[in-house]
Amino acid sequence: MTLRSRLLQAGMNGTRSRKRLTRWQAEFPYHWDADDQVSRRELLRFTVMASGALFAATAGIATLSYLNPLRSAHRQAIAQATDIPAGGVHYFQYPTTEDEAILLHLPDGRFVAYSGRCTHLSCAVYHDQESGNLVCPCHEGVFDSQTGAPLAGPPQRSLPKIALHQEGTTVYAVEEVPQ
Ligand code: FES
Repeated sequence: MTLRSRLLQAGMNGTRSRKRLTRWQAEFPYHWDADDQVSRRELLRFTVMASGALFAATAGIATLSYLNPLRSAHRQAIAQATDIPAGGVHYFQYPTTEDEAILLHLPDGRFVAYSGRCTHLSCAVYHDQESGNLVCPCHEGVFDSQTGAPLAGPPQRSLPKIALHQEGTTVYAVEEVPQ
């Protein structure tokens, strides 16, 4: 068979197979030679766009937290020391009105404050007068009121501490500090 006749034969076979296109072939009409290039190009474009979007989102979040340091650090009067006897507790919101927090007047006279959000799954923590500990009712998590450290239950991390400052009898929250 000559080269010319072989080419003719190949052309006829190609025409015949093109006529027998299945539905998926009709909907993806790329020649198999171009198929790889198209998918690589699409994949590369998608990867670049996804990386760009992630980078932009990360930069946006970093910028927002840089521009809004008040989120975790600002001075806020929370109580009069004379209103809370030793062993007493005062619930307040800090650093935003959405964030529950707890101020404790410990029996040794010190004031300490913690985020009122459990470090397990964010349930509200309360002060248990009987045990003197901070307790999360959701899964029976227990925190030490002296340090905020987890004592029992599923929580593994300490409650974030809220730094305090006292001027006269006024107690101020000044910053939430992760422990
Ligand atoms: S949410 Fe507090 S122990 Fe689970």
